Amino acid sequence: KNSRSKKPVVFLIGLSGTGKTTVGRLLAAVTDAEHVDTDVLIEERTGMSVSEIFEKLTETRFRELETVVLSDVLRKDGAQIVSTGGGIVLKAENRQQLTEGHVIWLWAGPDECASRLAGTTDRPLLKADGVEETVCKLKVMLNERLDLYFSVADLVVPTEGRTPEEIVQILSEEL
Ligand code: S3P
Repeated sequence: KNSRSKKPVVFLIGLSGTGKTTVGRLLAAVTDAEHVDTDVLIEERTGMSVSEIFEKLTETRFRELETVVLSDVLRKDGAQIVSTGGGIVLKAENRQQLTEGHVIWLWAGPDECASRLAGTTDRPLLKADGVEETVCKLKVMLNERLDLYFSVADLVVPTEGRTPEEIVQILSEEL
């Protein structure tokens, strides 16, 4: 899809810890768009936390819920910045919907992601004993997802060594 035929929706994709939520909030504030987060939309829809959904309903169901909330987002009018879950690209229907908007891939390596995530406990797929194990899990995820992120991304932004403000500056020039 060329950029002119896309909806005024920006999807931020990338692994956990790449800054999708932080950058999304800031970018929305700066561009006067609405900010939404697919994990939050799913939690609101189901009344369950992401961890509970993985535990009680399975990951497959979670990916289906991602499909449902992406359709909701694409049906709405107006400018939106959408922070997505790191695994949203795993399902073909989700990749298809992402390409209706502008897709920005935030990049940070597994070491950097793991250190940014240190101390958090709300990622069911990243339950680990310490930073080392988180790095290993993120490397496995990246290996599975790299081609998928690449296949939908319109732009890749390296985030290591940059502040969220600097990233937002880059994005507002590109969009
Ligand atoms: C996931 C990433 C999480 C969340 C869920 C699954 C993943 O979102 O959707 O825990 O598969 O990488 P963040 O990328 O915001 O951490």
